[in-house]
Amino acid sequence: MTETYTTRALSPETWDDFAGLVEANNGVWGGCWCIGLHVEGFGEKPHSAQRNRDAKRAHVEEGTAHQILVYDADGTCLGWCQYGPPAELPNIKNPAKYAAGLSELPDWRIGCIFTSSKHRGRGVARAAVSGALDAIRAAGGGVVEAYPEQTVDRAEQRGAYLHTGPEELYEQFGFVRDRKIAKWRWVMRAEI
Ligand SMILES: CC(C)(COP(=O)(O)OP(=O)(O)OC[C@H]1O[C@@H](n2cnc3c(N)ncnc32)[C@H](O)[C@@H]1OP(=O)(O)O)[C@@H](O)C(=O)NCCC(=O)NCCS
Repeated sequence: MTETYTTRALSPETWDDFAGLVEANNGVWGGCWCIGLHVEGFGEKPHSAQRNRDAKRAHVEEGTAHQILVYDADGTCLGWCQYGPPAELPNIKNPAKYAAGLSELPDWRIGCIFTSSKHRGRGVARAAVSGALDAIRAAGGGVVEAYPEQTVDRAEQRGAYLHTGPEELYEQFGFVRDRKIAKWRWVMRAEI
């Protein structure tokens, strides 16, 4: 079945849609609120869901969070793709390995992607990444990095563990492998 989705940017106007999606999914990972890649990160100890929510809300109010939300035909928010310049999303995983192979920072990063647990496997993440790349293009484009998981030659992975998405998703948009930064995680790059 082909589903039709629309996308909107996360902003003060769409905050309630985003918050509703996160709350319907137990805060996402028990209260992450998509803050891990932002400047605050998680730090050395877990922070409360309320602290993460407040931090995310502040980013949205200040315009330092970029995220594309995906909606179904009824206007229900089903998922997102986070993106931004490296200064906005400094806390990617495997930072030491990443830095060791780095020649030049990208212009943009794709951060976490998420689809509501009941709506997976229906193209929501694809719509979210497509929307994020459109937004990046509209903002001038440049080199875009994603940090997805390898799923080929590996035991089948539940979507739940693919925080930054599977490689195949980015291949569909022309991303190619740049270098490996963990056993199953790659830096992929595309020029947009
Ligand atoms: C990973 C995730 C975003 C995929 O979302 P989705 O909406 O189900 O993905 P889509 O239906 O758009 O799939 C697009 C492509 O990705 C690939 N893909 C999706 N899920 C996959 C999986 N579990 N294993 C391998 N490839 C997968 C496929 O190539 C698919 O293309 P196809 O439909 O042509 O086969 C989803 O499983 C998810 O949200 N997981 C939880 C991640 C999370 O917790 N994020 C927040 C972290 S703070």
